[in-house]
Amino acid sequence: MKTKLFSTLVCVACALFSLQLAAQPTPTADGLWLADDGEHINCHGGNIIRLSDGVYYWYGEHRVQNIPGTTEDGISLYTSTDLKTWHNEGLVLKASADTLSDIALGCIMERPKVVYNEKTGKYVMLFHLELKGKGYAAARVAFAVADNPKGPFTFLRSLRPNPGKWPADFKKADKKTAKAQNPSDYSKWWTPEWRVAIEKGMFLNRDFEGGQMSRDMTVYIDDDGTAYHIFSSEDNLTLHLAELTDDYLDYTGRYWRIAPCGQNEAPTLFKKDGTYWLITSGCTGWAPNEARMFKASKITGPWEQVACPSRGEGAKTTFGGQGTYVMSDPARPGEFIFMADIWTPKQLSHSRHLWIPIKFENGAPVLEVQK
Ligand code: DGJ
Repeated sequence: MKTKLFSTLVCVACALFSLQLAAQPTPTADGLWLADDGEHINCHGGNIIRLSDGVYYWYGEHRVQNIPGTTEDGISLYTSTDLKTWHNEGLVLKASADTLSDIALGCIMERPKVVYNEKTGKYVMLFHLELKGKGYAAARVAFAVADNPKGPFTFLRSLRPNPGKWPADFKKADKKTAKAQNPSDYSKWWTPEWRVAIEKGMFLNRDFEGGQMSRDMTVYIDDDGTAYHIFSSEDNLTLHLAELTDDYLDYTGRYWRIAPCGQNEAPTLFKKDGTYWLITSGCTGWAPNEARMFKASKITGPWEQVACPSRGEGAKTTFGGQGTYVMSDPARPGEFIFMADIWTPKQLSHSRHLWIPIKFENGAPVLEVQK
Protein backbone atom coordinates (compact mmCIF):
# COMPACT_ATOMS: atom_id res chain seq x y z
CA MET A 1 0.00 0.00 0.00
CA LYS A 2 2.78 2.34 1.09
CA THR A 3 4.72 1.52 -2.09
CA LYS A 4 1.66 2.24 -4.25
CA LEU A 5 1.06 5.59 -2.52
CA PHE A 6 4.74 6.47 -2.94
CA SER A 7 4.76 5.64 -6.66
CA THR A 8 1.52 7.63 -7.16
CA LEU A 9 3.14 10.63 -5.48
CA VAL A 10 6.25 10.19 -7.62
CA CYS A 11 4.06 10.08 -10.78
CA VAL A 12 2.20 13.25 -9.75
CA ALA A 13 5.50 14.96 -8.97
CA CYS A 14 6.92 13.87 -12.35
CA ALA A 15 3.80 15.11 -14.14
CA LEU A 16 4.03 18.51 -12.43
CA PHE A 17 7.75 18.61 -13.12
CA SER A 18 7.35 17.90 -16.83
CA LEU A 19 4.45 20.35 -17.07
CA GLN A 20 6.88 23.18 -16.33
CA LEU A 21 8.79 22.86 -19.60
CA ALA A 22 5.55 22.11 -21.44
CA ALA A 23 4.09 25.45 -20.28
CA GLN A 24 3.21 27.86 -23.10
CA PRO A 25 1.23 31.04 -23.69
CA THR A 26 -2.55 30.81 -23.72
CA PRO A 27 -3.61 31.47 -27.32
CA THR A 28 -6.27 34.01 -28.27
CA ALA A 29 -9.41 32.70 -30.03
CA ASP A 30 -7.62 33.03 -33.37
CA GLY A 31 -4.43 31.36 -32.18
CA LEU A 32 -2.20 34.38 -31.52
CA TRP A 33 0.29 34.30 -28.64
CA LEU A 34 0.37 37.77 -27.10
CA ALA A 35 3.42 39.16 -25.32
CA ASP A 36 3.26 41.81 -22.59
CA ASP A 37 3.04 44.52 -25.27
CA GLY A 38 -0.34 43.10 -26.33
CA GLU A 39 1.04 42.04 -29.74
CA HIS A 40 1.52 38.59 -31.24
CA ILE A 41 5.00 37.25 -30.48
CA ASN A 42 6.87 38.22 -33.65
CA CYS A 43 9.73 35.74 -33.24
CA HIS A 44 9.81 33.00 -35.86
CA GLY A 45 12.14 30.23 -37.00
CA GLY A 46 14.26 30.74 -33.89
CA ASN A 47 15.30 29.07 -30.66
CA ILE A 48 14.91 29.30 -26.90
CA ILE A 49 17.78 28.92 -24.45
CA ARG A 50 17.51 28.91 -20.69
CA LEU A 51 20.47 30.51 -18.96
CA SER A 52 21.74 30.18 -15.39
CA ASP A 53 19.74 33.29 -14.37
CA GLY A 54 16.61 31.10 -14.76
CA VAL A 55 15.39 33.18 -17.70
CA TYR A 56 14.26 31.71 -21.02
CA TYR A 57 15.53 33.74 -24.01
CA TRP A 58 13.53 33.33 -27.22
CA TYR A 59 15.26 34.61 -30.38
CA GLY A 60 13.63 34.64 -33.80
CA GLU A 61 12.90 36.34 -37.10
CA HIS A 62 11.16 39.69 -36.66
CA ARG A 63 8.90 39.82 -39.70
CA VAL A 64 7.92 43.30 -40.82
CA GLN A 65 4.33 43.87 -39.66
CA ASN A 66 1.53 43.86 -42.21
CA ILE A 67 3.81 43.57 -45.22
CA PRO A 68 3.50 40.40 -47.24
CA GLY A 69 6.86 38.97 -48.23
CA THR A 70 9.96 37.57 -46.71
CA THR A 71 11.91 40.59 -45.48
CA GLU A 72 12.84 40.99 -41.83
CA ASP A 73 14.02 44.13 -40.08
CA GLY A 74 16.04 42.16 -37.56
CA ILE A 75 16.17 39.43 -34.95
CA SER A 76 13.80 39.70 -31.98
CA LEU A 77 14.21 38.65 -28.40
CA TYR A 78 11.45 37.83 -25.92
CA THR A 79 12.17 36.75 -22.32
CA SER A 80 10.20 34.73 -19.78
CA THR A 81 10.67 32.99 -16.45
CA ASP A 82 7.73 30.61 -16.87
CA LEU A 83 7.42 30.08 -20.67
CA LYS A 84 3.81 31.36 -20.45
CA THR A 85 4.24 35.09 -20.18
CA TRP A 86 6.71 36.84 -22.46
CA HIS A 87 8.33 40.25 -22.40
CA ASN A 88 9.23 41.89 -25.70
CA GLU A 89 12.89 42.96 -25.46
CA GLY A 90 12.94 44.38 -28.99
CA LEU A 91 15.47 43.74 -31.73
CA VAL A 92 18.86 42.35 -30.65
CA LEU A 93 20.26 42.58 -34.18
CA LYS A 94 18.91 45.13 -36.63
CA ALA A 95 19.05 44.98 -40.41
CA SER A 96 21.46 47.72 -41.46
CA ALA A 97 20.62 51.10 -42.97
CA ASP A 98 23.92 50.82 -44.89
CA THR A 99 22.93 49.60 -48.34
CA LEU A 100 26.40 48.04 -48.80
CA SER A 101 26.08 45.84 -45.72
CA ASP A 102 25.38 42.10 -46.15
CA ILE A 103 22.44 42.66 -43.80
CA ALA A 104 21.13 45.78 -45.57
CA LEU A 105 17.43 46.36 -44.86
CA GLY A 106 15.59 44.28 -47.45
CA CYS A 107 17.76 41.20 -46.93
CA ILE A 108 16.27 37.93 -45.66
CA MET A 109 17.37 36.82 -42.17
CA GLU A 110 15.93 33.41 -41.35
CA ARG A 111 16.11 30.73 -38.65
CA PRO A 112 18.47 32.50 -36.17
CA LYS A 113 19.95 30.35 -33.41
CA VAL A 114 21.76 31.80 -30.41
CA VAL A 115 24.11 29.74 -28.27
CA TYR A 116 26.31 30.53 -25.29
CA ASN A 117 30.00 29.78 -25.56
CA GLU A 118 31.34 28.66 -22.16
CA LYS A 119 34.98 29.23 -23.20
CA THR A 120 34.65 32.80 -24.45
CA GLY A 121 31.65 33.90 -22.38
CA LYS A 122 30.07 35.27 -25.58
CA TYR A 123 26.63 34.74 -27.10
CA VAL A 124 26.93 33.63 -30.69
CA MET A 125 24.18 33.92 -33.28
CA LEU A 126 24.11 32.09 -36.61
CA PHE A 127 21.35 32.66 -39.15
CA HIS A 128 20.47 31.97 -42.76
CA LEU A 129 21.10 35.10 -44.80
CA GLU A 130 19.91 36.00 -48.27
CA LEU A 131 21.31 39.20 -49.73
CA LYS A 132 18.97 42.05 -50.60
CA GLY A 133 17.36 41.77 -54.00
CA LYS A 134 18.73 38.32 -54.78
CA GLY A 135 15.81 36.15 -53.70
CA TYR A 136 17.12 32.91 -52.19
CA ALA A 137 20.20 32.68 -54.46
CA ALA A 138 22.96 33.72 -52.05
CA ALA A 139 22.39 30.80 -49.61
CA ARG A 140 24.77 32.12 -46.93
CA VAL A 141 25.20 31.78 -43.19
CA ALA A 142 25.77 34.86 -41.05
CA PHE A 143 27.58 35.17 -37.71
CA ALA A 144 26.91 37.76 -35.00
CA VAL A 145 28.17 38.00 -31.42
CA ALA A 146 27.23 39.70 -28.16
CA ASP A 147 28.55 40.00 -24.60
CA ASN A 148 25.05 39.92 -23.19
CA PRO A 149 22.10 37.63 -24.05
CA LYS A 150 19.97 40.74 -24.54
CA GLY A 151 22.44 42.02 -27.10
CA PRO A 152 23.06 44.15 -28.95
CA PHE A 153 24.60 41.58 -31.30
CA THR A 154 27.39 42.75 -33.60
CA PHE A 155 27.16 41.40 -37.11
CA LEU A 156 30.52 39.82 -38.01
CA ARG A 157 30.27 38.45 -41.54
CA SER A 158 28.38 36.16 -43.89
CA LEU A 159 29.81 33.35 -45.95
CA ARG A 160 29.28 30.00 -47.60
CA PRO A 161 30.76 27.28 -45.37
CA ASN A 162 33.77 25.11 -46.03
CA PRO A 163 35.22 26.35 -49.33
CA GLY A 164 37.89 23.99 -50.64
CA LYS A 165 36.94 21.21 -48.21
CA TRP A 166 35.53 17.77 -48.90
CA PRO A 167 33.35 15.99 -46.32
CA ALA A 168 35.44 14.50 -43.51
CA ASP A 169 34.48 10.95 -44.45
CA PHE A 170 35.22 11.34 -48.18
CA LYS A 171 37.97 8.99 -49.34
CA LYS A 172 40.20 9.67 -52.35
CA ALA A 173 37.85 7.66 -54.59
CA ASP A 174 34.77 9.65 -53.39
CA LYS A 175 36.48 12.93 -54.29
CA LYS A 176 37.38 11.59 -57.73
CA THR A 177 33.77 10.44 -58.28
CA ALA A 178 32.36 13.81 -57.14
CA LYS A 179 34.71 15.71 -59.44
CA ALA A 180 33.53 13.59 -62.39
CA GLN A 181 29.86 14.70 -61.98
CA ASN A 182 28.96 17.55 -64.31
CA PRO A 183 25.62 19.46 -64.13
CA SER A 184 25.77 20.15 -67.88
CA ASP A 185 25.44 16.39 -68.50
CA TYR A 186 21.86 16.59 -67.20
CA SER A 187 19.31 18.64 -69.10
CA LYS A 188 16.58 17.61 -66.61
CA TRP A 189 16.51 17.54 -62.82
CA TRP A 190 14.86 14.73 -60.81
CA THR A 191 15.65 11.85 -63.17
CA PRO A 192 17.06 8.70 -61.47
CA GLU A 193 20.49 9.35 -63.06
CA TRP A 194 20.51 12.96 -61.89
CA ARG A 195 19.66 11.85 -58.34
CA VAL A 196 22.58 9.42 -58.35
CA ALA A 197 24.89 12.22 -59.55
CA ILE A 198 23.68 14.44 -56.68
CA GLU A 199 24.30 11.64 -54.19
CA LYS A 200 27.80 11.26 -55.60
CA GLY A 201 28.46 14.96 -54.95
CA MET A 202 27.68 16.80 -58.19
CA PHE A 203 26.59 20.02 -56.41
CA LEU A 204 29.19 19.53 -53.69
CA ASN A 205 31.82 19.66 -56.42
CA ARG A 206 30.07 22.57 -58.20
CA ASP A 207 30.30 24.67 -54.98
CA PHE A 208 33.68 23.34 -53.83
CA GLU A 209 35.72 26.49 -54.54
CA GLY A 210 33.24 29.13 -53.34
CA GLY A 211 31.84 27.28 -50.34
CA GLN A 212 28.75 25.18 -49.79
CA MET A 213 25.21 26.60 -49.95
CA SER A 214 23.64 27.18 -46.53
CA ARG A 215 19.90 27.79 -46.04
CA ASP A 216 17.55 26.34 -43.35
CA MET A 217 19.63 25.67 -40.26
CA THR A 218 20.08 24.92 -36.62
CA VAL A 219 23.01 24.82 -34.20
CA TYR A 220 23.61 21.99 -31.76
CA ILE A 221 26.08 21.97 -28.84
CA ASP A 222 27.20 18.51 -27.88
CA ASP A 223 27.96 17.43 -24.29
CA ASP A 224 31.68 18.15 -24.77
CA GLY A 225 30.92 21.75 -25.81
CA THR A 226 31.60 21.15 -29.53
CA ALA A 227 29.13 23.08 -31.68
CA TYR A 228 27.73 21.93 -35.01
CA HIS A 229 25.95 23.96 -37.67
CA ILE A 230 23.38 21.76 -39.45
CA PHE A 231 22.01 23.22 -42.67
CA SER A 232 20.25 22.52 -45.95
CA SER A 233 22.93 22.59 -48.61
CA GLU A 234 23.44 21.58 -52.25
CA ASP A 235 20.27 23.42 -53.43
CA ASN A 236 18.29 22.12 -50.43
CA LEU A 237 18.95 18.54 -51.51
CA THR A 238 21.44 17.43 -48.85
CA LEU A 239 21.98 18.36 -45.22
CA HIS A 240 25.47 19.22 -43.98
CA LEU A 241 26.61 18.94 -40.38
CA ALA A 242 29.66 21.18 -39.96
CA GLU A 243 31.86 21.42 -36.88
CA LEU A 244 32.49 24.92 -35.54
CA THR A 245 35.72 26.18 -33.99
CA ASP A 246 36.00 26.46 -30.19
CA ASP A 247 34.76 30.07 -30.23
CA TYR A 248 31.78 29.04 -32.46
CA LEU A 249 32.68 31.85 -34.88
CA ASP A 250 34.13 29.78 -37.72
CA TYR A 251 34.38 26.25 -39.14
CA THR A 252 37.06 23.68 -38.40
CA GLY A 253 36.70 22.45 -41.98
CA ARG A 254 35.28 19.07 -40.88
CA TYR A 255 31.78 18.33 -42.10
CA TRP A 256 29.54 15.39 -42.93
CA ARG A 257 26.63 14.99 -45.36
CA ILE A 258 23.27 13.66 -44.16
CA ALA A 259 20.64 12.07 -46.44
CA PRO A 260 22.16 13.03 -49.81
CA CYS A 261 19.43 14.08 -52.28
CA GLY A 262 16.82 13.62 -49.51
CA GLN A 263 15.50 17.21 -49.78
CA ASN A 264 15.35 18.08 -46.09
CA GLU A 265 14.70 21.51 -44.60
CA ALA A 266 14.04 22.84 -41.10
CA PRO A 267 16.56 20.63 -39.24
CA THR A 268 16.18 20.25 -35.46
CA LEU A 269 18.61 18.10 -33.49
CA PHE A 270 18.68 16.73 -29.94
CA LYS A 271 20.12 13.86 -27.95
CA LYS A 272 18.38 11.49 -25.57
CA ASP A 273 20.00 8.57 -23.73
CA GLY A 274 23.00 8.51 -26.05
CA THR A 275 21.02 8.64 -29.31
CA TYR A 276 21.03 11.70 -31.56
CA TRP A 277 17.67 12.51 -33.17
CA LEU A 278 17.21 14.77 -36.17
CA ILE A 279 13.69 15.88 -37.11
CA THR A 280 13.35 17.71 -40.44
CA SER A 281 10.68 18.74 -42.95
CA GLY A 282 10.41 18.23 -46.67
CA CYS A 283 10.78 21.19 -49.07
CA THR A 284 7.39 22.72 -49.88
CA GLY A 285 8.01 26.45 -49.37
CA TRP A 286 5.70 27.87 -46.68
CA ALA A 287 3.23 24.97 -46.96
CA PRO A 288 3.45 22.31 -44.24
CA ASN A 289 4.47 18.75 -45.02
CA GLU A 290 5.18 15.51 -43.19
CA ALA A 291 8.16 15.60 -40.80
CA ARG A 292 11.00 13.16 -41.29
CA MET A 293 13.20 11.66 -38.58
CA PHE A 294 16.75 10.28 -38.51
CA LYS A 295 18.83 8.77 -35.72
CA ALA A 296 22.51 8.15 -35.07
CA SER A 297 24.68 6.91 -32.23
CA LYS A 298 27.45 9.33 -33.23
CA ILE A 299 26.66 12.90 -34.27
CA THR A 300 28.88 12.51 -37.33
CA GLY A 301 26.78 9.57 -38.45
CA PRO A 302 25.92 7.30 -40.07
CA TRP A 303 22.36 8.67 -39.81
CA GLU A 304 19.50 6.25 -40.38
CA GLN A 305 16.06 7.43 -41.48
CA VAL A 306 13.31 6.04 -39.24
CA ALA A 307 9.50 6.40 -39.10
CA CYS A 308 7.93 9.87 -39.04
CA PRO A 309 7.53 10.91 -35.39
CA SER A 310 4.06 12.51 -35.80
CA ARG A 311 0.92 10.67 -34.67
CA GLY A 312 -2.82 11.26 -34.89
CA GLU A 313 -4.89 13.88 -36.66
CA GLY A 314 -2.74 16.38 -38.56
CA ALA A 315 0.34 14.10 -38.53
CA LYS A 316 0.70 14.20 -42.34
CA THR A 317 1.30 17.95 -42.24
CA THR A 318 3.15 18.14 -38.90
CA PHE A 319 -0.08 19.66 -37.51
CA GLY A 320 0.26 22.57 -39.94
CA GLY A 321 3.74 23.49 -38.68
CA GLN A 322 7.38 23.28 -39.69
CA GLY A 323 9.98 22.60 -37.00
CA THR A 324 12.52 25.19 -35.94
CA TYR A 325 14.18 23.89 -32.76
CA VAL A 326 14.03 21.30 -30.04
CA MET A 327 14.09 23.18 -26.76
CA SER A 328 15.67 21.66 -23.68
CA ASP A 329 16.43 23.06 -20.26
CA PRO A 330 19.66 22.18 -18.42
CA ALA A 331 17.60 22.01 -15.21
CA ARG A 332 15.22 19.42 -16.73
CA PRO A 333 17.31 16.78 -18.47
CA GLY A 334 15.36 14.39 -20.69
CA GLU A 335 12.50 16.83 -21.40
CA PHE A 336 12.19 18.32 -24.87
CA ILE A 337 9.77 20.63 -26.67
CA PHE A 338 9.51 20.52 -30.47
CA MET A 339 9.07 24.17 -31.51
CA ALA A 340 7.43 24.81 -34.88
CA ASP A 341 6.03 27.68 -36.96
CA ILE A 342 2.65 27.58 -38.64
CA TRP A 343 3.55 29.93 -41.48
CA THR A 344 1.01 32.47 -42.73
CA PRO A 345 2.83 33.73 -45.86
CA LYS A 346 0.38 36.59 -46.48
CA GLN A 347 1.45 38.08 -43.15
CA LEU A 348 4.48 36.24 -41.85
CA SER A 349 4.66 38.33 -38.66
CA HIS A 350 1.44 36.59 -37.57
CA SER A 351 2.66 33.05 -38.27
CA ARG A 352 1.40 30.99 -35.34
CA HIS A 353 3.58 29.11 -32.87
CA LEU A 354 3.27 25.41 -32.17
CA TRP A 355 5.15 23.75 -29.32
CA ILE A 356 4.80 20.02 -28.85
CA PRO A 357 6.25 18.23 -25.79
CA ILE A 358 8.12 15.22 -27.15
CA LYS A 359 6.95 11.86 -25.83
CA PHE A 360 9.04 8.72 -26.16
CA GLU A 361 7.64 5.34 -27.20
CA ASN A 362 10.08 2.42 -27.10
CA GLY A 363 12.83 5.02 -26.87
CA ALA A 364 11.77 6.87 -30.06
CA PRO A 365 10.43 10.45 -30.14
CA VAL A 366 6.70 10.91 -30.79
CA LEU A 367 4.92 14.16 -31.69
CA GLU A 368 1.23 14.29 -30.90
CA VAL A 369 -1.05 17.29 -30.47
CA GLN A 370 -3.56 16.94 -27.63
CA LYS A 371 -7.03 18.22 -28.57
C1 DGJ B 1 10.90 26.93 -46.16
C2 DGJ B 1 11.91 27.28 -45.12
O1 DGJ B 1 11.89 26.32 -44.14
C3 DGJ B 1 11.59 28.65 -44.56
O2 DGJ B 1 12.52 28.96 -43.55
C4 DGJ B 1 11.63 29.64 -45.67
O3 DGJ B 1 12.93 29.70 -46.19
C5 DGJ B 1 10.65 29.23 -46.76
N1 DGJ B 1 10.95 27.90 -47.21
C6 DGJ B 1 10.68 30.16 -47.94
O4 DGJ B 1 9.84 29.68 -48.94
